[in-house]
Amino acid sequence: MLASPAAAGFSLMLRAEIVPTCIRSALQAGVLALLFGAAPGGAFGQGDAKRGEYLAKAGGCVGCHTEDKKEAVPYAGGRALKTPFGTFYGPNITPHPQAGIGDWTEADFIRAMRLGERPDGANYFPAFPYPSFTKISDGDLRDLWGYLRSLAPSGRANRAHDLRFPFGWRSLVTIWKWLFFTPGPFVSNPRRSQIVNRGAYLVQALGHCGECHTPRNFLGGPKRSRFLAGGKTPEGKAVSNLTPARLKKQSDAELKDFLVFGTTPDGDVPAEAMGEVIRNTTSQLTPEDLAAVIAYLRSLPPLPAEPR
Ligand code: HEC
Ligand code: HEC
Repeated sequence: MLASPAAAGFSLMLRAEIVPTCIRSALQAGVLALLFGAAPGGAFGQGDAKRGEYLAKAGGCVGCHTEDKKEAVPYAGGRALKTPFGTFYGPNITPHPQAGIGDWTEADFIRAMRLGERPDGANYFPAFPYPSFTKISDGDLRDLWGYLRSLAPSGRANRAHDLRFPFGWRSLVTIWKWLFFTPGPFVSNPRRSQIVNRGAYLVQALGHCGECHTPRNFLGGPKRSRFLAGGKTPEGKAVSNLTPARLKKQSDAELKDFLVFGTTPDGDVPAEAMGEVIRNTTSQLTPEDLAAVIAYLRSLPPLPAEPR
């Protein structure tokens, strides 16, 4: 680690009388943070790209940001996302300075994920699941950023979204956000076990499971009191209720088989929307994280399925 020589250098500086006291104590705090690995907000260096790679899987980023064809460059954009408001195209998020987000700072990235705002201040459309990603912790956002920076830059040009009037107006999203968007990182519930809190974080923040599994009103806003009680895909296909009202019929082993291999107790193949989530996300989770996801789903209040 760099910590020891750097720390030695710092302590030499600290002993020199020319360094004013206030700077000295700030430096001391910094050295302590370095030594004990508790870097305060953004003060030191890059996120951990290796951890970020795992978090990108837990977030399913590759699916929406990769064209749906063989030989597509991962994260270079182009995936069509059909919704009742029109078709969105996932943008290129590789570090290419023009085609991708190569000229972004870490702060630009954190603002996009936490607040759903572009570097120029315009709103993102909530087809980018920032209403869930806002809950990702600062540390995990930094690691995700570290990972995106480590990708090979791709010059693949973005395609403009093809949205029905007036849904293409980014300014209208301000109203949508005001009604439905609560920014801010996930807060653990001290009355719940550590494993249930971990599962809640994976499901609500990174996994954005509610984007499909929570029913929406006619403005596309999630019905909060019906969290994970089952919804519809944008194309109108039914999406299962994930609360115990339905999942109690399945054992933990059956749920694991479904989330890792896509096999159902009655031998069915899951609908493609979930098949992709299984491939990109749930099958890639560590056994501990998968167990946490299941423990959290088991802890939800049982809600009846959405009336059709
Ligand atoms: C369900 C699809 C979907 C998923 C999953 C998704 N994104 Fe996106 N993302 C989008 C769409 C659509 C946009 C463009 C939104 C707009 O133009 O308003 C976008 C935009 C972005 C942008 C801004 C790019 C730019 O050029 O302005 C970043 C950064 C980004 N996503 C990162 C991520 C990361 C990191 C993950 C995984 C943790 C992720 N996305 C997962 C759909 C998705
Ligand atoms: C892109 C939309 C989408 C997302 C995101 C999504 N799912 Fe699903 N999920 C579906 C659909 C559609 C089905 C129904 C599959 C079927 O019936 O064939 C489903 C089914 C399931 C089932 C089977 C339930 C049953 O009735 O047996 C489980 C479990 C599940 N999803 C868990 C998750 C978890 C956990 C996440 C988050 C990591 C998640 N899903 C994210 C679309 C989605």
